[in-house]
Amino acid sequence: MRDAVGKLLLFGATGDLSQRMLLPSLYGLHADGLLPEGLTITGTARSEQSDDDFRSFAREALDTHLPDERKDAEAIAGFLDRLFYQPLDASTIEGFDDLARKLGDISGGLAIFLSTAPWLFGPTIKGLESAGLAGEKVRIGLEKPLGKDLASSREINDIVAAAFPEERTFRIDHYLGKETVQNILALRFGNSLFEPVWNARGIDHVQITISETVGLEGRAGYYDEVGALRDMVQNHMLQLLALVAMEPPAHFDGTAIRDEKVKVLRSLRPIANGDAAAHTVTGQYGPGAVKGEIVRGYGDELGKPSGTETFVAIKAHVDNWRWQGVPFYLRTGKRMPERRSEIVIQFKPVPHSIFAERGGALQPNTLVIRLQPEEYVRLLVMAKQPGLDREGVRLREVPLNLGLDTEFAGTRRRIAYERLLLDLIEGDPTLFVRRDEVEAQWQWIDAIRAGWQAAGVSPKPYASGSWGPSASVALTERDGVTWNE
Ligand code: BG6
Repeated sequence: MRDAVGKLLLFGATGDLSQRMLLPSLYGLHADGLLPEGLTITGTARSEQSDDDFRSFAREALDTHLPDERKDAEAIAGFLDRLFYQPLDASTIEGFDDLARKLGDISGGLAIFLSTAPWLFGPTIKGLESAGLAGEKVRIGLEKPLGKDLASSREINDIVAAAFPEERTFRIDHYLGKETVQNILALRFGNSLFEPVWNARGIDHVQITISETVGLEGRAGYYDEVGALRDMVQNHMLQLLALVAMEPPAHFDGTAIRDEKVKVLRSLRPIANGDAAAHTVTGQYGPGAVKGEIVRGYGDELGKPSGTETFVAIKAHVDNWRWQGVPFYLRTGKRMPERRSEIVIQFKPVPHSIFAERGGALQPNTLVIRLQPEEYVRLLVMAKQPGLDREGVRLREVPLNLGLDTEFAGTRRRIAYERLLLDLIEGDPTLFVRRDEVEAQWQWIDAIRAGWQAAGVSPKPYASGSWGPSASVALTERDGVTWNE
């Protein structure tokens, strides 16, 4: 399966993602000796600069974004030696021959990482093809946004498919590169404990939260066009849901795992028409304070009023045997009180409590899979408090903890892109999103948006630093469920 290429080509090499994530990740792989020997990394973007300019740019990016203990002068120098640069206006076909010349012999394989504006996809793919940069030895990694709805995502997928067959197309969802996300597979399929209760008989409901403290972060143009549903739910949250809900795959490979995920995505109960208003809540942050800092509201930050949602909560269902009747509550938002990504599995209560007659109250078991900021898996179980119990049995919820930071203290926590870039270079598609998955995701999302439009739903204001509009609390409380806060 491992089939490493000899060259990497980065589109958007001088952009924000490249500075913050891609260059530091590639450096991390280099410093750990994980990049193939001799692998060259060619950056391309519109700006005119030389190889040396790009190396200075990369040096600065590493300086800003690497923790001090990772900065090793020798390793940095070695990494910069791998870098080259070729300016390119991807909107016209002309520059691609020069790019091919700069890359030289690609018979040892080429991996391309494309993070460009959606309208550049067509010209870029055509340019690559015309310059002989789309042949059998070439694979392509695609960064979001890959469309704004099913139709535009199909369009992009068609454009890409004309030059790159599916097995050489690697769609990135950076959540799949996160260690704890991959740990969901280990937890579910590496232990016999959970599987017998991992279904509607054992589980009451599931919550998935991705809350962020940041606001627009200078991405107004993009964000205001898409909103929280398309920015976070369509991709990251649905991937988390699919990993939690999927059937055990028969193999640990790209086909088996993605086959199971896509079945889940296709089993999502459509939330359309009247349901869109009843089963979802949208919000937009107003002024407030986040972690003690006064912040402006969304419209102020944007400079104009907007109907874009910065928060969404959804009550979803997976219509299959395993999950019948189990709600999946999803919520994500900007300007929340804390940054947190987690999955909470709430198990059913015991069928009969022998402790009630002795005054003991029970909580149903809860499994918390925390992806960030900390990484842990925590199972909350009931335990008896020490004592003679003369006034009744006293029980308390206590955690069984698997703290990844402490348990694997000697291991460096990697940036999600390290794993994904290495898998792209080595050709392992398991943690990339297949076309049928993306399209199933969009199909479900499009129906919600159409429902919002039909019902004239507009986002409810919420104060920055709060957990979203109160309707989000009501969404779960109606079912007797409280968000894990
Ligand atoms: C990106 C979204 O896909 O994920 C951003 O476009 C969001 O809006 C980011 O901030 C969150 O990623 P993470 O890894 O910080 O949780």
